[in-house]
Amino acid sequence: MLKYFLIFWAFAVVFWAALAGPRGSTFVKPPYEVFPDMDRQEKLKPQSASAFFSDGMGSRPTIDGAVPMGLSIPDRPAQQADGGVLSGSIDRVEFSYGNGYFYTGIIGEYYGDGLPDELAIDADFLLRGKERYAIHCAICHGIAGDGEGVVKPYGAGFVSMANFLESAFHREDSETYRPDGSIFQTITNGRGLMGPYGANINVRDRWAIVAYIRALQMGVHSGSDEGGAESSDSSPSDEGEGQRDDS
Ligand code: HEC
Repeated sequence: MLKYFLIFWAFAVVFWAALAGPRGSTFVKPPYEVFPDMDRQEKLKPQSASAFFSDGMGSRPTIDGAVPMGLSIPDRPAQQADGGVLSGSIDRVEFSYGNGYFYTGIIGEYYGDGLPDELAIDADFLLRGKERYAIHCAICHGIAGDGEGVVKPYGAGFVSMANFLESAFHREDSETYRPDGSIFQTITNGRGLMGPYGANINVRDRWAIVAYIRALQMGVHSGSDEGGAESSDSSPSDEGEGQRDDS
């Protein structure tokens, strides 16, 4: 009986010491951290002072000639632009906050098809789309649009990027056909594992990318009568070659 009493007593002492022991004492060393979770780092908070720079400020002044992202930030929403008429003001209004097809890819309750009237479609427009596609989309969807981008091997076979050249994707009689407005929406808002690009790519460039994807698909379409993308040899883009040297 005494044995149990002593065990109980020992536990009670340890419990009390653990809970109430250090109360009121001041520690000078930081507590031992098993997972510091990057609580302390070499960094500067916005607007904070810093001894590192000679002027004592953490924030750095803007470098002469710096331009904001190469875009003109609109001074008022599209709805208010020039009495509600969008064309003519489009140079100033580049990101989606209007309601029209140009800004949403949607007409009524459905995705629209075809490029909006606000755009002048010429060779430069397509080249712009090609360039933007190469910057933003090619790493995943492949430079040829076949879904074989350089990051594909890292998806361990679980992640499949859309293959734009598949007939299911680009033939209008296919049940899973994606109209232009749908592709525009996917760029704007993302889908599934694909992130949204609405904040990175302005409206005009999004449409330019859509147009370029159509051009890629047309190349495949005209290349074979069976409208499939069975082989990437029919790829319209020669740059496709360098991309797939991993296989
Ligand atoms: C980080 C990789 C990645 C990048 C970059 C990327 N995508 Fe995707 N995309 C995906 C994945 C993954 C899917 C499949 C999403 C799903 O169905 O879950 C997809 C799907 C799509 C689809 C098909 C959506 C549908 O209706 O099923 C379209 C269209 C598309 N992407 C266009 C683009 C365009 C245009 C760009 C460049 C602006 C782009 N993607 C950039 C990964 C990416």
